[in-house]
Formats: sequence, C-alpha cells, structure tokens
Amino acid sequence: MSKILVTGATGNVGKHVFSTLAEAGLDVRALARNPSKVPGEAVQGDLTDPASIDGALKDVESVFLVWPGFEAGAAAPVIERIARHARRVVYLSANGTSFHQDVEQLIRRSGLSWTFLRPGGFAANTLAWAAQIREGVVRWPYGQAKRSLIHEKDIAAVAVHTLTSAGHGGAAYELSGPAVISQEDQVRTIGEVIGRQVRWEDLSPEVAREHLLAAWGDPGFVEAALEGWKAFVTSPEQVTETVERLLGRPALTFRRWAEDHAGDLR
Ligand SMILES: NC(=O)c1ccc[n+]([C@@H]2O[C@H](COP(=O)([O-])OP(=O)(O)OC[C@H]3O[C@@H](n4cnc5c(N)ncnc54)[C@H](OP(=O)(O)O)[C@@H]3O)[C@@H](O)[C@H]2O)c1
Repeated sequence: MSKILVTGATGNVGKHVFSTLAEAGLDVRALARNPSKVPGEAVQGDLTDPASIDGALKDVESVFLVWPGFEAGAAAPVIERIARHARRVVYLSANGTSFHQDVEQLIRRSGLSWTFLRPGGFAANTLAWAAQIREGVVRWPYGQAKRSLIHEKDIAAVAVHTLTSAGHGGAAYELSGPAVISQEDQVRTIGEVIGRQVRWEDLSPEVAREHLLAAWGDPGFVEAALEGWKAFVTSPEQVTETVERLLGRPALTFRRWAEDHAGDLR
C-alpha cells in the first residue's frame, strides 16, 4: 500500500507531480473533477463535496493536496477523510497570509504526517498577460514590483522529492525562484524569448482594481495582490535556497520558464 493520490492533477503544479511519479513507475492515482483530462489512473471526485473523494482515497498512503479557490471552505471534512485513509500529506500552501494558513492548521491537527510547500509567486501567473503580450503592450500596475517567481516544475520536483523520500515530516519549505525580477523585466524577457518587442505600461492601482475585480471576482484577493505588488517595489520578494538544497541543482530561471511556455505566449 504505497499508492500516492495527486489532487489538482490537471493544474500548473499537479500535472507535473502526476506525470513525474507515473513516469518513475510509482503507483499514482489522480483525483479529478473530470478524470478524462488526466493521462493515467484517475478517479472522479470534487473537493467541495467531501463524500465524493472516498473512492479516490482507497488504498492510498500519501496525498499531494492542492486546495483550489480563495477560501478554506470544505477543507475540514476533506482533511478528516484523508486522515482516515492515508498516512501523509504534502500540501501545496503559500508564503504569506491567506486561507492556506487555515488549511495548514487543519492538517496539523489531523494526525497526518505533513509537509507544507510554501511557494511565493508562480511564474505561470504571467500567462495572464498572454493576450496583451500578443498585442505588444502589457498594461498592469507596479512595473517595478520585484518578484522571485518560481517555475511550477520546481515546485512539482520538490513535491515529488518529499513524497518519495524520508525526513520531510513536519517541514514547511519556503520556495522561490533563483532571483528577483521586476514585472517590467518579466515582460521584456518574455519579449526576447518569443522574438517580439513587448512594452510595459504602468496602470494606476485604481484602474487595475476594476480590471482585476472583473477577472478574479474576489475583492479580498484583489486588494491583497495590489498591496503585495506595491510592497515588492521597495521590498523585493524573498529569494530562498530551498529548491537547490532539496534538489541539488539551482532553481530554474524566469527565462527558462518563458522558454518552456513560449508557445503559450506567442
Ligand atoms: N499562483 C500563485 O502565485 C500561487 C502562489 C502560492 C500558492 N498558490 C496556490 O497553489 C494552488 C494551485 O494554484 P494554481 O493557480 O496553480 O491552480 P491550478 O493548480 O493550475 O488549478 C487548480 C487545480 O485544482 C483543480 N480543482 C479546482 N476545483 C476543484 C474541485 N472543486 N475539486 C477538485 N479539484 C479541483 C483543477 O482541476 P479542474 O479544473 O481540471 O477540475 C486544477 O487541477 C492554489 O491553492 C494556490 O492558492 C498559488
């Protein structure tokens, strides 16, 4: 009984966790709302409907848990169910203050052996600019906000490492990319990689708030994002050595991320 259940297996990080474990010949199963989207063993289940995940948990020892959305919601009964079946959980959490702290707290109290992965900003967030990049100008607030964006493949590699080796119980790993890069330079780098000039134009926070509310819906999340970018202008996001320490190789650069996603950005 060493089966690993991967949630979020169609998402940025989870898809790499799933494929890496499967390619290594490990016994892995996905929990998915639509199992046909997963290239491998997948069982239907919805994290907002706790009873629906029991089938996916059968014979599972370890769970890679992604909590979708912006609030802890039904996390308590989901974690109770995981604890009834499995022995350990690796939770994709986050740096900073958010609903992730509530989920972490529930996991700490569950009796499961736990490891928390706390990345800062995902490089994949810049995919939100794809349409603007195609038009040659990205209008967004705080061009000088400096972030240590992380490649989703690095988060997945750390997840696989912690799921498949001993000694990570009770660890909370703060993860980042290898260096800080301003939002303006992120756009410049993407332009260089895709071979097109892309210009940055600073949007006022007031105008940005309206756009982001329309796109994201959650006012608390929008305010937190705006406050975060504002703060990163003067206090750049933290760079940690954790990826290199755990994986024995440097974290992947933002340029490498852009190269991997050139097709999504052209
Ligand atoms: N973006 C960042 O900068 C950042 C930073 C730190 C932490 N995080 C955290 O990382 C996690 C992943 O974020 P992401 O933006 O990369 O999202 P994502 O993993 O790309 O997408 C969400 C995943 O969850 C699945 N999902 C959504 N609702 C579900 C439900 N009700 N039941 C079961 N599965 C469901 C989706 O599957 P289907 O839609 O295919 O069903 C998809 O696989 C989130 O918890 C986020 O807060 C993000």
